[in-house]
Amino acid sequence: MNDTNELVKRHSLELIICAHTKSQIPEVEEVQIALAGRSNVGKSSLVNALAGRKKLAKISATPGKTRSINFYKVLPCDYYLVDLPGYGYARASHEEQKNWSNVLEYYLDSSKKLKALALLLDCRLPPQTIDLGLVEYARARGIPILPVLTKTDKCTQKEKKLKQEEWQTILGTMPLLVSSQKKQGLEKLWQTLDEAAIGKFCEE
Ligand code: GTP
Ligand code: MG
Repeated sequence: MNDTNELVKRHSLELIICAHTKSQIPEVEEVQIALAGRSNVGKSSLVNALAGRKKLAKISATPGKTRSINFYKVLPCDYYLVDLPGYGYARASHEEQKNWSNVLEYYLDSSKKLKALALLLDCRLPPQTIDLGLVEYARARGIPILPVLTKTDKCTQKEKKLKQEEWQTILGTMPLLVSSQKKQGLEKLWQTLDEAAIGKFCEE
């Protein structure tokens, strides 16, 4: 079953800016929702699935593909989805990791229009220290977290339920379930993103 229906068709994403350095981060007037998560969790695949396109965002089996902060304008509702570089990519050099986390922290600290952090979490993995670190970071700054369990095609019903409960206990919010591969959960995710960004469903 897939639910690629009305809301996916109704929304489109347009890549506006790829920022590799702090100085390239634009001062965006519109509100933003950022997609954060460990390298390889499926952020860029989710951007493509949400847009109903295959090659909008680059994806790769090799972690560390997204090295810039990519600003996608959500049309027709005028807010931004911001695809952040994945953190915790062990094979990146120390220098590289430091640069990414600097740019990431700079963005999270300086963006006054950031409405929420959609935190992508692999449904197959137990809560990871590095994710919990980001949760603390966001909480300390009052940034709401929208948890999203990814790659649910790889998990059984029981595993998904247990993982949802585990995260609900930690975050106080039940994670949404998505599979970019099977195009599942996208409808509900668009509704949640619209609601968090503009307080209503996106309409023409
Ligand atoms: P970075 O750019 O390194 O931060 O990674 P990312 O979070 O953007 O992950 P990306 O979308 O590039 O996907 C990483 C790998 O996971 C790729 O091999 C994808 O094909 C795979 N993947 C992404 N989403 C899904 C999914 O829903 N199901 C399955 N089975 N695989 C997925
Ligand atoms: Mg990526």
